[in-house]
Amino acid sequence: TPNMEPIQFTSLSHNVRTISPNSIISPPPQLSLQSPKSFKSTLQHSAYSSQHFYQNRILDQYVFQPANQITLRQLIFFGRNLTEERIIKSGNYVRTELTIRIAHRIRDFQNLPFVVGTNPHIAKVYDLYWIAFETLRKFPPIKTMEDNDEFCKTLKSLLKKHLVVIPQLAMGIIECGEYMSEEQVNRFMNVMLRTRISRRVLAEQQITLTENWNDPNYCYGSDGYIGVVSTQCNAKEIIDKCAKMTSNLCRTTYNVEPPNVIIDGVDTTFSYIPDHIEYIIYELLKNSIRESPNSSQKFVTSETSQTSITPESSESSKISKTSEIRKPKKPFPPIIVTICPGPIDIYFRISDQGGGIPDKIYPHIWSFLHKNSDKKIDHIFTNFSKVPQMAATVQEYEQFIIPPNLNLGIGLPMSKVYAEYLGGDLTIFSMDGYGTDSYLKITKLGNIKENLV
Ligand code: COI
Repeated sequence: TPNMEPIQFTSLSHNVRTISPNSIISPPPQLSLQSPKSFKSTLQHSAYSSQHFYQNRILDQYVFQPANQITLRQLIFFGRNLTEERIIKSGNYVRTELTIRIAHRIRDFQNLPFVVGTNPHIAKVYDLYWIAFETLRKFPPIKTMEDNDEFCKTLKSLLKKHLVVIPQLAMGIIECGEYMSEEQVNRFMNVMLRTRISRRVLAEQQITLTENWNDPNYCYGSDGYIGVVSTQCNAKEIIDKCAKMTSNLCRTTYNVEPPNVIIDGVDTTFSYIPDHIEYIIYELLKNSIRESPNSSQKFVTSETSQTSITPESSESSKISKTSEIRKPKKPFPPIIVTICPGPIDIYFRISDQGGGIPDKIYPHIWSFLHKNSDKKIDHIFTNFSKVPQMAATVQEYEQFIIPPNLNLGIGLPMSKVYAEYLGGDLTIFSMDGYGTDSYLKITKLGNIKENLV
């Protein structure tokens, strides 16, 4: 039954997400007359006011509408031959679809245990989603290209305001970890983050198509991009780019000459959202590169009784103090990345001899809940308030908010969330004391619907 309670946060066992047979699919009544600004203050100052009764009734009308999932192929075909009419059509799809998808997530927040939902970090994200929901719900239907430009401006501003979502959620979950099981936390975070990727793809696609649709070099032009999708993602180029970035990171962060990255297998070109694969490969290579000095340090120590390389002790505070790049006495074993293009999927295997993942940690590598990492996270959040003004892009923001040498602890689960978004997968096998093999599967036909669970 629909949840008509005037209460924001209900218990997890209260399943309000059951779809009623009489799902309301008509447009919502224009009930609320508040501007987004006054709406925000309502949320901040009277979270339990009777206003929520009406707000939740409006929300219900969207919660009971299913998401209309798309495929990569649809993104490509739709963006191929664009006209004003098609841009306007996709603008209206994004407008209604984002409203529905955000409504689903607001309901997830409401289903969190009360003590979790009222945590300031979680509540901040909850408020952001309410504001986004109201902004999009009230955005009038797009009829002209000028309306669409206005809509894209709104999307850009929402994308920027929502840059704080991941670190805020990570912080909230750490603070509330004891009130939820690891399984509950992971279920909540997986859905929250995977659907966030989906919403950002829809928003970014509309913005990018709008900005470039009549540039002949853009759509199917020399660069092969259609919005945020590249029709010419090259496996080797992606690995090369990530290897360069992670190797530099190793030098600047640990002052250590990194292990070589050797690319093996059969190169291939395919259609995908390159940012997603880059995020994953970067994260996996970063882990391998970070571990390699550790393993060699052990070899050096055991053979020569001296510790010349101490990457873990040169964490954040000491990063820039020494500039000399230290070479290991014995070269680190290389990291081998194998590309294997199959008829349906492309596999990437990253093999390192970096010592493997300790048996104690291995069962939790996909978990968003790291009870021991509060200290590092605190450091990140001290810079929190300065960030949105400073960062122009997601990458810039993330580099600032999550300094690469700090281990927020969500890189691996986040990579899996990215991999699974369009039907791929990420698996990791580790031999404690020797090394790690990561297998990334990317579906290349583009016919799998977005995974939103
Ligand atoms: C997010 O970034 O958290 C979103 O939900 C994006 C959306 C507001 C466009």
